[in-house]
Amino acid sequence: MKVVVCKDYEEMSQKAAESVAQSIKENPGGLISFPGGDTPLLMVHRFAEMVNGGAVDISKTHYTSLDEWVGLADTDEGSCGLFNRQQLFERLEKPFAGTHLINGAATDIEKERQELDDYIAEYGPLDVSVLGIGLNGHLGFNESGVDFDWNAHIITLDETTRRVMKKYFGEKFHPTQGITQGIAQIMAAKKVILIANGAHKADIIHRAVYGQITPEVPASVLQKHPNCYVIVDQEAGAKL
Ligand code: GLP
Repeated sequence: MKVVVCKDYEEMSQKAAESVAQSIKENPGGLISFPGGDTPLLMVHRFAEMVNGGAVDISKTHYTSLDEWVGLADTDEGSCGLFNRQQLFERLEKPFAGTHLINGAATDIEKERQELDDYIAEYGPLDVSVLGIGLNGHLGFNESGVDFDWNAHIITLDETTRRVMKKYFGEKFHPTQGITQGIAQIMAAKKVILIANGAHKADIIHRAVYGQITPEVPASVLQKHPNCYVIVDQEAGAKL
């Protein structure tokens, strides 16, 4: 793991966006993936600015989202899909070669899971996987206890995730399941970038980087990835 502690959220976002852009320059025809959540917001904006400014060409690059709440379509408020649409796709003056969003509201959710696997199989393996981290160490919706050998799957959300998700939905929506790329697909990425900011992430970032490699802390598996960058602000990196 290459740990990069930045002075603030702005620098974390800029460095992560630059690292993605660098990978695309080296391999313009690759597949990339960003997470949802609060952490990647500015990184996504910085990345879109780089694309629009001509610093990087994504016309041959494919994009897939990482995960989705089961029950939400990619146009629903609070969905990762809508985040991708509003914060990334709609900001880009030139589109990706192709994109894949997960429809968590699909009646046949198993088919949706299969389509995520199929997209990654067709255009992957991932060139760059950008990840956030949950307070329990989850990556996407790879929750504590996940099997590191799994590809895309549907999982029951654990207690921590259900508590934290109230910041996205309040009392309006109570998802109990998530659909996500699996650890096997993340670990097959040529480059992984884990981003985190804020003091509330300091403990789990420390466990992910220095703790025992265990499915109880899914992010700890990244210690085994040959090309993983952990880019954090000072607060999230306080215990490193
Ligand atoms: C969410 C998502 C993850 C995200 C993580 C952290 O539940 N499933 O993809 O990375 O939790 O979210 P945030 O960046 O808002 O802290």
